[in-house]
Amino acid sequence: MLDIDWVRAQFPAFDTAALQGQAFFENAGGSYTCRPVIERLMRFYTERKVQPYAPYEASTLGGEEMDEARARLAAMMGVASDEVSFGPSTTQNTYVLANTFRQFMKPGEAIIVTNQDHEANTGPWRRLADEGIEVREWTVDADTGHLEISDLEELLDENVRLVCFPHCSNVVGEINPVSEITAAAHAAGAFVCVDGVSYAPHGIPNVDELGPDIYLFSAYKTYGPHQGIMVIRRTLGMTLPNQGHYFNADSLYKRFTPAGPDHAQVAASAGMADYMELMAAHHAIAGDTAVKAAGVHDLMRAHEVKLLQPLLDHLSAKNSVRLIGPSKAGNRAPTVAVELAGSGEAAAAELAKHGIMAGGGDFYAVRALKAMGVDPEKGVLRLSFTHYTSEAEVGKLMQALDDVL
Ligand SMILES: Cc1ncc(COP(=O)(O)O)c(C=O)c1O
Repeated sequence: MLDIDWVRAQFPAFDTAALQGQAFFENAGGSYTCRPVIERLMRFYTERKVQPYAPYEASTLGGEEMDEARARLAAMMGVASDEVSFGPSTTQNTYVLANTFRQFMKPGEAIIVTNQDHEANTGPWRRLADEGIEVREWTVDADTGHLEISDLEELLDENVRLVCFPHCSNVVGEINPVSEITAAAHAAGAFVCVDGVSYAPHGIPNVDELGPDIYLFSAYKTYGPHQGIMVIRRTLGMTLPNQGHYFNADSLYKRFTPAGPDHAQVAASAGMADYMELMAAHHAIAGDTAVKAAGVHDLMRAHEVKLLQPLLDHLSAKNSVRLIGPSKAGNRAPTVAVELAGSGEAAAAELAKHGIMAGGGDFYAVRALKAMGVDPEKGVLRLSFTHYTSEAEVGKLMQALDDVL
């Protein structure tokens, strides 16, 4: 069982006077930051804030810390260090990736995108149509928001070079079977790009076991700094045209991040690995890094599933509410969007008066909401939590929902 008191003690936000009495339910927008990340960021800015990789100590330590971040996160995901790269955000990363595929693909070839994704993993790809690339849409079920694999199989043929989909949509919440989808795409000869932004906060996955060629997530939602993290497997990464400086073309982790790295934030990302290690040690999870990461993932998920089911039941029982996505906690993330008679933002404003921090709107999942018949102008109310959320906070949320809805 997850020691929730220990967990919350690792997040300074819970001890801050400014946030007392506030239950945080907009974690899918961005999580609180764990202490090791804050400490590393502070240390970098005070002791190591110089150009890294030079032969004086402050610089050497800064560069080593940046390498450490990539190496330790890579070990958690079962991939090589240079298969991990950092960019300013996932949206920026997909923009660069779409550009490399723009150069790589030929007119008449096809890509598959979904209408379940956040715009970041669909809009940039759709723009390849300007180059004569055929864009095929894998569409959600209009009632449930579910993506059916048999529908994908009908779209796959020898022309498809890439399939893009989310591990978990930021409004539907359903966890998509990445391995199964990837196997279908690979069997047809296509590469796979997975947006893991809404999934990774609930346990950094083993990307090697999942199998995609590209896996993306945003560290500011996984208890870290504001960075987009990208896994690009070597075979694909060395095949796609280099987007970095020409003299860096042999360095896989520099090929798809044309901007100079944010040194301090890259270094501080090692704090996410520290947090995982601390959590594993506290809960007596032993093994190599990947094994510990998997154990921590399962611990976090079990806690979330336990707290999520009562919330889903509570929302399902309300006639005034349309729950988007699965009503069973086992196959969804604790990212729960609901359609109301009024606007999602208005409901969030009411909840704020009850000490609930939640959000309303379209969350840049405009296509998904439209496909399910939700007017994006009205939007949804989204209630999202993580492993550091307590049972008492979910109880407080349900009480506030009774008062507001
Ligand atoms: C599912 C999903 N994908 C992609 C993004 C974009 O991430 P970033 O803000 O790092 O560009 C978000 C941001 O909210 C998201 O929720």
